[in-house]
Amino acid sequence: MPDVTLTTLQGLKQSGEKIAMLTAYDATFAQAASAAGAEMLLIGDSLGMVLQGHDSTLPVTVEEMAYHTACVKRGNQGAMIVTDLPFASGTSLQRLLDDAVKVMQAGAHMVKLEGGAWLAEPIVRLAQMGVPVCAHLGLTPQSVNLFGGFKVQGRQETQARQLRADAIALEQAGAAMLLLECVPSALGQEISEAVKIPVIGIGAGPGTDGQVLVMHDMLGLSLSGRAPKFVKNFMQGQDGIQGAFAAYVKAVKDGSFPGPEHGFSA
Ligand code: KIV
Repeated sequence: MPDVTLTTLQGLKQSGEKIAMLTAYDATFAQAASAAGAEMLLIGDSLGMVLQGHDSTLPVTVEEMAYHTACVKRGNQGAMIVTDLPFASGTSLQRLLDDAVKVMQAGAHMVKLEGGAWLAEPIVRLAQMGVPVCAHLGLTPQSVNLFGGFKVQGRQETQARQLRADAIALEQAGAAMLLLECVPSALGQEISEAVKIPVIGIGAGPGTDGQVLVMHDMLGLSLSGRAPKFVKNFMQGQDGIQGAFAAYVKAVKDGSFPGPEHGFSA
């Protein structure tokens, strides 16, 4: 049982204190990020890109997700551990449930699934098994081929209406948390205010209940040499990685990150 629970996160949302989340893939970085005060560690399938060097998250397997979850668990100091279910988990409900069991047994406290209202059935089944779900909306990287690239979502009113409806449906189905990626800042705030569960944003503006960044991005490391607009390099002005993690947590908590320059307009 981590120190940070769903009750902690609900309390932070209600009090207006922002939630700080970072990706982590191994024990050493998990220890550094959790010791710096990040309430949540995400074993993102972004590991397919930042650790394995693929050009998308699609090749990642559940065995790899479980392996990195177990590594993070060993270094974690009290943060809640959230693990992505990879692309291939979506082939059937049974496979998704089996894959959730694998990552929970490896040390996750919550699983993250990409998708909208159609996730209602797995969310209900997982809740019956005692597994909290974070639903990932907006730019869902596993659908990069459908989107035609890593593009901002929800700029057109029809898309924005769909995202609002999906968020409400996912909350009603029993999702414990939402993650909103690359949507206009105004929509990020609107959705966060429309639901009672915590909403974590990445490229969704300052109005969400918390923020997440891919660890490599916020440390200024990138295979392509180009950082997305929503990223800030927290190594600047720091003499080490521990300082960068602490600066990130502080900036999320005091509201100085993300700034207007990190957000998207409608
Ligand atoms: O895989 C991941 O790291 C993620 C973040 C981009 C939120 O889903």
